[in-house]
Amino acid sequence: MSRDTVAAQPARPPRTRIVMVAAVAQNGVIGNDGAIPWHLPEDFAHFKRVTTGHTLVMGRATFESIGRPLPGRTTVVLTRDPDWSADGVHVARDLESALELAAQLPGDVVIAGGAAVYAAAMDRADEQILTEVHLAPEGDTLYPDFDRSQWQETRRESHDGFDIVRWERD
Ligand SMILES: NC(=O)c1ccc[n+]([C@@H]2O[C@H](COP(=O)([O-])OP(=O)(O)OC[C@H]3O[C@@H](n4cnc5c(N)ncnc54)[C@H](OP(=O)(O)O)[C@@H]3O)[C@@H](O)[C@H]2O)c1
Repeated sequence: MSRDTVAAQPARPPRTRIVMVAAVAQNGVIGNDGAIPWHLPEDFAHFKRVTTGHTLVMGRATFESIGRPLPGRTTVVLTRDPDWSADGVHVARDLESALELAAQLPGDVVIAGGAAVYAAAMDRADEQILTEVHLAPEGDTLYPDFDRSQWQETRRESHDGFDIVRWERD
């Protein structure tokens, strides 16, 4: 094969980034009884800022706790229920299909919870944007542990009641 033939091959498009976005209390809690056990409008504004224009992948329970597709974002809902559907969202039956589908949709792939979805996607993620909430509330849903030796804290912003921390894979 000549050099010219090799040069004529189309370049492989860059892989879409996979970013986990979560708000996590000091004790690892992210949810309780189907809801988030704190109210931090400034963190909601941050969530809106970092997710607008991107594609969210979320579990069916998280979608139902929000109750509607979030404006300005594309949503892929994970469910094993073949009959489940909702207006304005894409549906996937497993994580691989969700990631493949989301990679064709606008922006980065944002993993938006809940617990099983974060745990399943952890090994695939390029970045975690975690709001460290300065509370330790009761909760039934936890963010998964991750091996900090594989990740680097690249940015930390302090706010009133929470820090926003970016972790990138080494
Ligand atoms: N603090 C935060 O940043 C944050 C973010 C998100 C959510 N939350 C909180 O977390 C809680 C909800 O999380 P959760 O862990 O209970 O539920 P969830 O992950 O949102 O939803 C679980 C459901 O998603 C589907 N699912 C999950 N993984 C799947 C997979 N690999 N393949 C196919 N389907 C899959 C299944 O739906 P079916 O049962 O329909 O099959 C499963 O029952 C709420 O309290 C919410 O407020 C907090």
